[in-house]
Amino acid sequence: MNSTGTHTEQALKDLFAQHFRIGAAVNPRTIRSQELLLAHHFNSITAENEMKFVSVHPEEGVYTFEDADLLADFAGRHQMAMRGHTLVWHNQTPDWLFEDSQGRPAGKALLLERLRSHIDTVVGRYKGRLYAWDVVNEVIADEGDALLRPSKWLDIAGPEFIARAFEYAHDADPEALLFYNDYNESHPAKRDKIYALVKSLLEQGAPIHGIGLQAHWNLFDPSLDDIRAAIEKYASLGLQLQLTELDVSVFRFDDRRADLTSPEPGMLERQAELYEGVFGLLKEYHDVISGVTFWGAADDYTWLDGFPVRGRKNWPMLFDAQHRPKPAYDRIAALFAE
Ligand code: GLA
Repeated sequence: MNSTGTHTEQALKDLFAQHFRIGAAVNPRTIRSQELLLAHHFNSITAENEMKFVSVHPEEGVYTFEDADLLADFAGRHQMAMRGHTLVWHNQTPDWLFEDSQGRPAGKALLLERLRSHIDTVVGRYKGRLYAWDVVNEVIADEGDALLRPSKWLDIAGPEFIARAFEYAHDADPEALLFYNDYNESHPAKRDKIYALVKSLLEQGAPIHGIGLQAHWNLFDPSLDDIRAAIEKYASLGLQLQLTELDVSVFRFDDRRADLTSPEPGMLERQAELYEGVFGLLKEYHDVISGVTFWGAADDYTWLDGFPVRGRKNWPMLFDAQHRPKPAYDRIAALFAE
């Protein structure tokens, strides 16, 4: 970037042109505050929150698409691809969905009919503009032997809601690529459960085309070996993979310090090494990886400033708060310029 704010560094989308799409999560504020950065480097976007159930369908029969449309229009204006996120999740989903008109728990048939109608409306609206959807997000249990996380979806409909969601999405847009998306996806125990779920979906004939590795990582976890093993295991199902929410926190997950106002010496260098290792793997496995999306674009705006410690600054991206390339960008650019 030069002093007028024009980006002169090589565009990520050009560096990765032969390998995969490069994306960023955006919202109605960042498409303005980060517009030059986004337009220069990225050829794909994901709505950070604006296409989630509660955002587009807060009440029965009431759809609110203003913010989602704004982002889809931004993608169109900048010739960017767009991923849809997300249709079925245990968070950011309104209570009315799980209740009947008397406020009692909804029955299975009612819940599945509402799901079908929601997916039909939302996926149908963006048909031809969004090329992929995270159909089901985070249904795997983190701990213990249980495969599925407890949820109202599971209580009411049993495990069947997962396959049904993929079928409804496929009916609404037969061209869209449909993904299962989850976090801690490279930890061996959870990886094996995700693998088991997706394998069973394939055996049931569900229309699923890919696995989204959220990739909310940090300087200490997961290891590159575990990431490699996860890529290999998921790819063995014959599906395409995408990193859907990549960021590299500078803090260990259980490090709850809140006093740093700038990165400690060495942190950004370690981050650069890790990003280089990650993108080395992505380059090696690019045949099975069709997209890499960051959960944000630059360090001026990241959800990690509020999680897991509210108000603690983090520096997880390739670009700093002024949108200048960080050491991690330089390493990746050198790797792909080879
Ligand atoms: C999960 C969800 C995303 C987002 C992030 C953090 O990974 O899939 O939509 O909410 O958490 O903000």
